[in-house]
Amino acid sequence: MKRFYIETFGCQMNVHDSEKVVGTLLARGYQPVDSAAEADLVLYNTCSIRDKAEQKVFSRLQQFKRENGQGKLFGVLGCVAQQEGERIFERAPHVSLVCGSASYNRLPELLREVENGGRRVTGLSLETEETFETPVTRRDNPHRAYLTVIEGCDKSCAYCVVPFTRGHERSRASESVLAEARELAQAGYSEIQLLGQNVNSYRDPSPAGWDFAALLDAAGRTPGLRRVRFTTSHPRDFSPRIVDAIDRNPVLCNHVHLPVQSGSTRVLERMRRQYTREDYLERVAWIKGSRRDIALSTDIIVGFPGETESDFGETLSLLDEAGFDSVFSFKYSARPNTPALALSGHIPDPEKGRRLAILQERQRAIQIRRNAALIGRVEEVLVEGFNAATGQWIGRTAQNRILNFAARDGATLAGACLPVRVTRAGPNSLVGDLI
Ligand code: SAH
Ligand code: SF4
Ligand code: F3S
Repeated sequence: MKRFYIETFGCQMNVHDSEKVVGTLLARGYQPVDSAAEADLVLYNTCSIRDKAEQKVFSRLQQFKRENGQGKLFGVLGCVAQQEGERIFERAPHVSLVCGSASYNRLPELLREVENGGRRVTGLSLETEETFETPVTRRDNPHRAYLTVIEGCDKSCAYCVVPFTRGHERSRASESVLAEARELAQAGYSEIQLLGQNVNSYRDPSPAGWDFAALLDAAGRTPGLRRVRFTTSHPRDFSPRIVDAIDRNPVLCNHVHLPVQSGSTRVLERMRRQYTREDYLERVAWIKGSRRDIALSTDIIVGFPGETESDFGETLSLLDEAGFDSVFSFKYSARPNTPALALSGHIPDPEKGRRLAILQERQRAIQIRRNAALIGRVEEVLVEGFNAATGQWIGRTAQNRILNFAARDGATLAGACLPVRVTRAGPNSLVGDLI
């Protein structure tokens, strides 16, 4: 019997890729184990979005080799695999497989090569018109399922590795997406999350020719599904029709993740984001103008090369103007091959850290206010699990807030959709009582 262990870094697309890779391995007769020590095949699905993520991979690979590397096969998958390619074999000679996400369709063949003693087996071509689909995807969460809509990225933001690590945009035929949504509903999933680096850049390759709003609308009408989410939306391709679709159908979650990156048009231009501060605020107005209360979250990079104190001030004022419900914020990290490396005005790390702390403090105050305004409201939560430490169930509202609540013990609530009244609010989560 062949045993495998897989560890995954990075975004939801990477997590979902790993679910498909695991399915592929199970179909080849592999059994999953809980630690690298017990495995014959050790796989790392890697992320390269910031330098820290990349460094983690190599230190982990060295650590496993030292601790229990004898007789095992090692493979590196994902974005660092694509970015570093054959160089991985130099830095970590015990690795025998390096494969990027655009080549996962070839995994069965590559695994066979490795099993037959192949050294330095690679899948590094970005030339594909397809998304990676397999009938044997093994999903981790029994209630919420990820579903690929589009892979790759055709933008070229100056700081970002994704266009190099995931290749060109490939959209999946609408009928294929909807068929998988129906299967997932029949299999008992309550929620699906439509995935793409720029999910709303979706262009149906089939004659139907749908845009993302049409696909979202149809996915929301899948019989049996309670919730449909989608991530990540790119501001340039965000249309009012997406808001209209959410307005019409309560199954579509009232939450939009719309990364802004900076509040300064000058910085956005240098980042090559293809929209201005005003364009972004126009989209915020569409979202806030909805009949439903749509939550809004974003990503922000501080300390992009050339960002002045006044540019940074514009990002701070955008926090107030847009009223985000949550913000993922990062210090700019210089990445290989990206155009931003050549820009002038790189900012020292302590200064980036200072700006990040100011931004996070400002947003924390906003979240405390916005969450406190929910006290007294009844929210439907999808229950995710039980926290033994606090004795509370953990649920998620349609707006994507964590809402913890106490309930009679004994009964298993995981997977249920329940009404909970909000009684307390912190910056990052809510507490309530089951009704
Ligand atoms: N496709 C999405 C984002 C994908 S990456 C979009 O365009 O919005 C997720 C987030 O990581 C980005 O939104 C950005 O905020 C952050 N990020 C990407 N590259 C980065 C870098 N070089 N340094 C710091 N943060 C980065
Ligand atoms: Fe990266 Fe920009 Fe593509 Fe997002 S849109 S994945 S930030 S290049
Ligand atoms: Fe990381 Fe690749 Fe996702 S770089 S964020 S795993 S697309």
